[in-house]
Amino acid sequence: MAILTIARMGHPILARAAAPILDPRDPALASLATDMVETMVAAQGIGLAAPQIRVGLQLVLFSVPASRMEDGSGVALTWLVNPEITPLSDLTEEAYEGCLSLPGLTGRVPRWSHIYYRGLDLQGRVIEREATGFHARVVQHECDHLWGRLYPSRMADIGSLAYCEELTDGEGEP
Ligand code: NI
Repeated sequence: MAILTIARMGHPILARAAAPILDPRDPALASLATDMVETMVAAQGIGLAAPQIRVGLQLVLFSVPASRMEDGSGVALTWLVNPEITPLSDLTEEAYEGCLSLPGLTGRVPRWSHIYYRGLDLQGRVIEREATGFHARVVQHECDHLWGRLYPSRMADIGSLAYCEELTDGEGEP
C-alpha cells in the first residue's frame, strides 16, 4: 500500500491509450487498486485513472458526492475495468473541470449530458449505468485518461483555462 506521485500533464503516459485488462481478478490489480484509492484520497480527488499513477491499464475509480447530484443521491466508490461510454443524446453541457494531473488549474469543458457506461468491477462483474450531469462528467473525464486525453484537449475555448486561485469565489470550483 502506498501513496504514489501523480503524473502531471506532459508525462508521456497521459497521452497514450491504456491497454485492456485481461483478468479483472488478477491479485496484482487488487494491490494497484489499493494504491489508487490511497493516492486519490490523499490528493482529495474524486476520481483517478491508472495512467495517472503511471500504469497503462484500463482501470479508473471515482465517486460522486451527494452534494454534486441533482437528486442528492451520490455515487459510491466505483471501479471500472475496460469501460465503454455511449452518449444517449446529442446534448452537451459545459462546466468547469479540474484534474489531479493539472494541479491548480481549471477550465470549461463540454461533455455529453446523458450517457450509458459499462465496465467490469474488480470481481469481474458487469457494471452498467445511465448517468447525467456531474456523474456523467466525472465518468467521461476519467475514461478520457484511458484514451490518452486530458481535459484541455476537450475544451471548446482554451481561453477559459485558469488558475483556480485567480477566479472569483467558487466560479472555477471543479
Ligand atoms: Ni483527471
